[in-house]
Amino acid sequence: MDIVMLHPSHIPHVQTCNITNLPENYFAKYYLYHALTWPQLSYVAIDLSKPPKSPHDPPKIVGYVLAKMEEEPLDGIPHGHITSLSVMRTHRRLGLAEKLMRQSQKAMVETFGAKYVSLHVRVSNKAALRLYKDTLQFEVEKVESKYYADGEDAYSMKQNLDFIWDGVKKEEALYKKDDKKGDAETGEGAGDEDEGDPVGDEGQEDKKPKEVMRKVKIGRALGVSDLVEKVEQPKASS
Ligand SMILES: CC(C)(COP(=O)(O)OP(=O)(O)OC[C@H]1O[C@@H](n2cnc3c(N)ncnc32)[C@H](O)[C@@H]1OP(=O)(O)O)[C@@H](O)C(=O)NCCC(=O)NCCS
Repeated sequence: MDIVMLHPSHIPHVQTCNITNLPENYFAKYYLYHALTWPQLSYVAIDLSKPPKSPHDPPKIVGYVLAKMEEEPLDGIPHGHITSLSVMRTHRRLGLAEKLMRQSQKAMVETFGAKYVSLHVRVSNKAALRLYKDTLQFEVEKVESKYYADGEDAYSMKQNLDFIWDGVKKEEALYKKDDKKGDAETGEGAGDEDEGDPVGDEGQEDKKPKEVMRKVKIGRALGVSDLVEKVEQPKASS
């Protein structure tokens, strides 16, 4: 089994998996939007036990997680959101959903600085609730009445991602320690303070006029109309 980042070519197969397992289905462009905007957050599980017979055979996708960052968080806190998760019946209870979720959560923190992750789940979905509550330690934040199209309520759930932040910090500290150790062994880095003053262009740095930092509007703040190319009307000749 392999867990890899969602690639646009996977989308039709992910859609098949989604339609087979869940009543909440999406257009291909919605998957593409996720894959292109937050490529680090969505993953697929591929069954490698029956390798494709020809290069044209599609990979056997048996599970996926589709996730995103909340674009305009109401609470102002950067956080991720699980849009959809499912695993084919033939491949359940192998730990795939847990792995897909953990991979996505790690990337939410490492790539986008997420503080927590949220999701919705049907109140009747026992398997998913066990996974979220017991295995992944999500907490129920509130019940959203008639959240689903068929009128079922949803639990709105949240998981704090501080524990991943702690792991990231520990890893960084280890790298720094290893670097220092490596430098001490090779002699590299010793006497760093004695490298002399910058020369050439670098040395002229403080004589150069300071660049003025300017705030510019990009993306959403700019508004769609500002991004549309304007066709300038030629001035009427008088
Ligand atoms: C929910 C779902 C994604 C779980 O996928 P999975 O790959 O089988 O889950 P995992 O193997 O990673 O399970 C991890 C843990 O979750 C819990 N769990 C998963 N399926 C369970 C089930 N049917 N009954 C009880 N607990 C279950 C268990 O605690 C399990 O750990 P264990 O196997 O060591 O006991 C899968 O059942 C599914 O696709 N369901 C239909 C779609 C769906 O409901 N998606 C969620 C929408 S919010």
